[in-house]
Formats: sequence, C-alpha cells, structure tokens
Amino acid sequence: MSDSAAETALLAQMERLAPPAVRLGCRLIRAGDEALLLPEEAVALPARRLVARRASGAARALARGLLAAEGMTSVAIGRGPAGDPLWPAGFAGSLAHDDEMAVAAVARKADIASLGIDVEPAEPLPDEIAALAVMPGDVLEGVHPRLAARLLFSAKEAVYKAAYPLDGEILGYEHIGVDLARGEAVTARGRRMRLSFCLLPRIVVLAVAEDQPASR
Ligand SMILES: CC(C)(COP(=O)(O)OP(=O)(O)OC[C@H]1O[C@@H](n2cnc3c(N)ncnc32)[C@H](O)[C@@H]1OP(=O)(O)O)[C@@H](O)C(=O)NCCC(=O)NCCS
Repeated sequence: MSDSAAETALLAQMERLAPPAVRLGCRLIRAGDEALLLPEEAVALPARRLVARRASGAARALARGLLAAEGMTSVAIGRGPAGDPLWPAGFAGSLAHDDEMAVAAVARKADIASLGIDVEPAEPLPDEIAALAVMPGDVLEGVHPRLAARLLFSAKEAVYKAAYPLDGEILGYEHIGVDLARGEAVTARGRRMRLSFCLLPRIVVLAVAEDQPASR
C-alpha cells in the first residue's frame, strides 16, 4: 500500500470518531519529517533522538494544517515542561505517534474544553504492559480480546493527554478508569471523558473532556 493510501484508509476510520467540532489528521512518518519542525518548535526538543524529532515534526505539521483550516496560520506548537503541546489561545489539541504513523486532533475551546488522542499498532499488548495498565475496575467487554488490552492502554494515554491541560497532574494507569463498552473514562479526581476509537487499520482513540466548554 502506498503512503497516501495508508493515510487515506486510516483517516476514513478516524473521521467516524470525531464530533463535528474536532478536526483530525494522520500522516505516515517519513524520512526528513524532522525538517517539518519550525525553528521555535525544534528548540523545545534539542536533545531528542532523530526518530523522536521526526515523529514530532510529522505530528506538528499535521496539527498546523488543522489549525490553518481554522484560520490560524504559521502557529508554532511549543512544548510545556511535562511534554504537553502548547496550543494557540482559544484552541485545544493533542498529538500522538507510533513507530509509523502520526496523528493530531484540534478543536476550538469554545466547543470542547480539552481532548486527547493516541495511536497504536493493531497488535496485542505484551502481557507485562497489560499487567501494569489494566486495573480491576476497567471494563474491556465488547472489544475483540486480541486487541482489548491494547485499546484500553491507548485509551488511558488519550485520557491523560486530555486531562493534563485541565488539571496539570501526571496520572498513572491506576488513576484512570476506562469502560470500553460504554465509551467512557473517569480520572481519580472525577473528570469524565467520552471515548471513541477505531481498531483497524490501526488503533486510534480520541478522548473528549465532558466539561462545559469555555464561553465564546
Ligand atoms: C504522554 C504519554 C502518556 C504518551 O507518550 P508516548 O506513548 O511515548 O507517545 P505518544 O506518541 O502517544 O504521545 C506523545 C505526545 O503526547 C503529548 N504529550 C506529552 N506529554 C503530555 C501531557 N502531559 N499532556 C498532554 N499531552 C502530552 C506530546 O504532544 C507528545 O508528542 P511530542 O513529544 O511529539 O510533542 C507519555 O509521554 C507521558 O508523559 N507519560 C507520563 C505519564 C504516564 O505514563 N502515565 C501512564 C499512562 S496514563
């Protein structure tokens, strides 16, 4: 499959996940994507390995494209001290990448208080990672057992990315309860998220905070 066919196939699935207010994108990570980082973005990642800068370049270029579609052009997406991407005023967003694919999500805060995205290969999660990520209260029903633990792991990462800008807390897997059957998650401090996801051609999870959006 060509690069663009792989992107088109995933984007078609991702677009079924998003509420109308959310813009989503995906990009296969290519050699040279590190050059897509704007200078002010690159200085926030100086010590990182090439592979990490390449993935960040792909994700940031995607996100800048999504922001441009909202009328925000030439906006650098910085990086906070906890690794959180810094969005222009009035916008919420999230980035993720696995070894091959970068994804991004953007929305206006007037519509959505915060969101988080994650991408994972559609492969079973190693047992030792599942043992860390899956908690007794988590609900995995309704998802094929081959991918359920990987999906749950991905959902917790997406929820963390959505919760961090609101609460400024580093969360562990034990601080996030996920119900895959209901498409819901809640953090230890009671913040509720709606989850939507696809499993193929890759796992992508979108977490949207249920808070009242900021007033326009
Ligand atoms: C965010 C995190 C969970 C995901 O990391 P990962 O699986 O290695 O990488 P992903 O591709 O899925 O996501 C990376 C992106 O997450 C975003 N991110 C990182 N920290 C973030 C934070 N605190 N809040 C929101 N988004 C964050 C960044 O945009 C990053 O991409 P970039 O470095 O190119 O800007 C991890 O980096 C982290 O910070 N972990 C600490 C807390 C933790 O692990 N808790 C258990 C899971 S809930």
